[in-house]
Amino acid sequence: MSAREDVDFFSEASLIENPYPYFDDLRSTCPVLPLPHLGVVAVTGYDAATEVYRDPATFSSCNSVVGPFAEFPVPLEGDDIGEIVDRHRGQLPMHEHMVTMDPPAHTRERALLMKLITPKRLKENEEFIRRLAERQVDGFIAAGRCEFVRDYAQPFALIVVADLLGVPETDHDRFRERFGLTAAPGAITGEQVGDGGDLNALSWLDEWFARYVEDRRRQPQRDVLTDLALATYPDGGTPEVAEVVRSATFLFAAGQETTARLLAAALKYLAEHPGSQDELREHPERIPDFVEETLRLESPVKTDFRLALRSTTVAGVEVKAGTPVMLLNGAANRDPEHFPCPAELRTDRPNLRTHIAFGRGVHSCPGSPLARVEARVSIERILDRTRDIRLSPEHHGPAEARRFDYEPTWMLRGLSKLHLEFTPMGAGS
Ligand code: HEM
Repeated sequence: MSAREDVDFFSEASLIENPYPYFDDLRSTCPVLPLPHLGVVAVTGYDAATEVYRDPATFSSCNSVVGPFAEFPVPLEGDDIGEIVDRHRGQLPMHEHMVTMDPPAHTRERALLMKLITPKRLKENEEFIRRLAERQVDGFIAAGRCEFVRDYAQPFALIVVADLLGVPETDHDRFRERFGLTAAPGAITGEQVGDGGDLNALSWLDEWFARYVEDRRRQPQRDVLTDLALATYPDGGTPEVAEVVRSATFLFAAGQETTARLLAAALKYLAEHPGSQDELREHPERIPDFVEETLRLESPVKTDFRLALRSTTVAGVEVKAGTPVMLLNGAANRDPEHFPCPAELRTDRPNLRTHIAFGRGVHSCPGSPLARVEARVSIERILDRTRDIRLSPEHHGPAEARRFDYEPTWMLRGLSKLHLEFTPMGAGS
């Protein structure tokens, strides 16, 4: 396949189900390669991707979410566009979220968030995660089948973030009711998407969290929402209510779909490899490594973006100031120079934790410990309560001709649906 010449990554529906041959094709041509569309340079090599991630002074995150669709009111001309970006970054979509900020503004915002995601809070959250996993499995176990994304992964990942932020359990059902109303960002609809999709689909959460924060500022309690409401910046400054709300609600956007897709990828693999189910039941201590390999192989954040602020070179390739640099995590994580036999899931890889599914550098995912616990606990509980997990032939076709639907976006990688069948533990096995 001559991928580079013809394919428009941002609108090509055929790349959704299996983008990996295209990624391989790009990488084998050059790990840092200008594409024929939208002036994008694609980074598919592991070393080159980490080099870009680690250099926020040269590569701005201002376009990290909308990529080549970031529109500036003036042309990005010259060999140093830092000043132009600073002047106009406030006009870009998602500019108010930390993921698009650069140091020092990013450093300040991230410090506020890290007061919420503390090791103590994660520990408390883990106990809840275990209970939630059980409850979620209770919902479908007797039927011997489920649509895993809808019945488990999405509501589970949503409620985990709600609990992390201290939303009272009495309000969890209200969250569940609202879930499902959101559109994935970066949707591919057959045409190029100019604004990265409906990035504010979670705006209802802003209203809810504003109420929580205002309430706790008026009447502090001994709970996590009060910690959230009273958190201060490193310089002692008190954030506006809207700023706290922004940090909180962004966690849902960042943590729900990504984790749900990781869980679905893990269950798909287990259903396709019955031997691995038995192995992980017998050796649950191998589950964390299995999760790392799933992250590497099916990196849920398929693309991440940076904007070159200065003309420079990456892995010896010239990149001009103003170029949108597309970091293809899913491609870098299958770079054979870094991960031999990259398409194989191997839990004994010595370097398996060096994948970049959570990014690298100052923006590297602060939710990664949480996502890892969510995946480990889910797999443990599901394997414990089932036997013989398999794909539904009714929905995914016979073994020799399986079919799957993936989220039609250029940004995320993940199954839209995963129909599983299994033997409930203790029921006729
Ligand atoms: C499998 C699940 C997840 C994956 C694959 C993932 C991936 C990523 C990646 C690649 C980045 C870096 C973005 C960049 O450099 O431009 C990121 C940032 C971020 N993630 Fe995650 N994430 C996951 C789960 C979570 C969870 C559960 C949370 C929180 C509850 C979370 C919160 C965030 C936040 C707040 C950022 C922005 C950090 C910053 O800009 O400094 N993520 N994530």
